[in-house]
Amino acid sequence: MPGIVVVGAQWGDEGKGKITDLLAERADAVVRFQGGNNAGHTIVHEGVTYKLHLMPSGILHPGKLCVIGNGVVIDPKILTDELDDLRRRDIDTSALRISANAHLIMPYHMLLDHAGEIKLGKLQIGTTRRGIGPCYSDKAARLGIRVQDLLDEKILKKKIVAAMEPKRLSLREFARDPRLDLQAMTEEYLTYGHRIKQYIADTSRLVLERLDDGELVVFEGAQGTLLDIDHGTYPFVTSSNPIAGSATIGAGVGPRDITEVWGITKAYSTRVGAGPFPTELDDALGEELRERGAEFGTTTGRPRRVGWLDLVALRYAARLNSLSALVITKLDVLSGQPTLRVATRYRADEGLETDHFPYHQTVLHHSVGEYEELPGWSEDISDCRSEQDLPAAARDYLRYVSEFVRVPIALVSVGPAREQVIWTQAGRSMQGYGARAAA
Ligand code: GDP
Ligand code: IMO
Ligand code: MG
Repeated sequence: MPGIVVVGAQWGDEGKGKITDLLAERADAVVRFQGGNNAGHTIVHEGVTYKLHLMPSGILHPGKLCVIGNGVVIDPKILTDELDDLRRRDIDTSALRISANAHLIMPYHMLLDHAGEIKLGKLQIGTTRRGIGPCYSDKAARLGIRVQDLLDEKILKKKIVAAMEPKRLSLREFARDPRLDLQAMTEEYLTYGHRIKQYIADTSRLVLERLDDGELVVFEGAQGTLLDIDHGTYPFVTSSNPIAGSATIGAGVGPRDITEVWGITKAYSTRVGAGPFPTELDDALGEELRERGAEFGTTTGRPRRVGWLDLVALRYAARLNSLSALVITKLDVLSGQPTLRVATRYRADEGLETDHFPYHQTVLHHSVGEYEELPGWSEDISDCRSEQDLPAAARDYLRYVSEFVRVPIALVSVGPAREQVIWTQAGRSMQGYGARAAA
């Protein structure tokens, strides 16, 4: 009954989509459990690039159950557009299932997200403005509209009225916006309901059936540990829990259904949006890595902030997620650097030094990395397929990271394509999983 969670160990965009797609080959089901279309997961397959926002990254494998779980917030326009786009590319989407309990992003959520950021001015979070925060707020306030509400016009309309009532003041500036017209909004959302009706299901039951049959289920996280609303760099976070524990709540399974947790991390760091970033490289080297790594947001196109690998934060992520393995992505991007740096401590104001991720926001905001220097390598490693193919300095870099964080590395990624990976000894059991399951 192996359930494996794929979780972002940094600030998102670690390559979760690529790794989930790779594991999906060996799995029977892929489940998204939180976040919404703030996510952008890229998969490159046979030279074709797929950018998924809501669709689980198992969708390129025909017939595999792909679930959008109850913990996800769904913008039904984006979902139906994504379905259309995949069908145009001849991808079979018939195995998609959507939780009836997932919440819906409504037009007023997007307007409020946008307006909230404008009001914050210089203090803004840099959200994706997709309505994520306001939608989760309504969920907690018990004013949310859920997927199942799309199937009944009367209920839908009543719930929209109830949800908009307490927002009257904040929505006043949009009074004439056609997107907020009650009748038009209800009709638009009923149309989405009609389009996705065939996919709506009790997804918790479907997933548990697979687990009970001993099949491999991949729980695909969105965002990353440091964007977690409880454990991340609050308030510069998203409005859900991207950490592994959240997979149980957002998919409707129990903690004992999770057997492995893989933390995905780049070989360096990136962050998009505002907030503390102790290893940020605000210089020509940062620019160089941004270009080499094509570090521009999948969802918003914004340039990502770039920095050295932060081992203080990574060890924190290992603890919060109880990681059983690490996956290091984008190691190829570091080729050509004579010296590499990894942060092993933070230095804050007044000479304060710490090995631990600071719990106090003020300390964190003043923290900068203290580094260990490691030798780099000059070779292009994008064609390496085994650890022995890698230059000794690259192997040493990986060993240093794994020993510092005390988590084995299962997989190393050396390029965007599905085949550009190196399975290590620790990852071999998963590599062989599909074959064993089929036997
Ligand atoms: P996600 O949100 O965690 O799924 O990550 P994104 O898809 O937003 O960002 C990761 C980007 O890096 C995508 O453009 C991937 O195609 C690309 N990528 C993934 N792994 C590698 C790798 O090992 N090397 C390189 N050069 N690119 C990679
Ligand atoms: P994937 O799944 C990187 C960031 C935003 C912003 C903060 C809050 O592709 O890794 P939100 O719209 O969620 O309220 O924005 O979170 N953010 C992401 N950063 N990758 C993502 O997803 C992100 N989803 C949200 O930039 O700083
Ligand atoms: Mg992304």
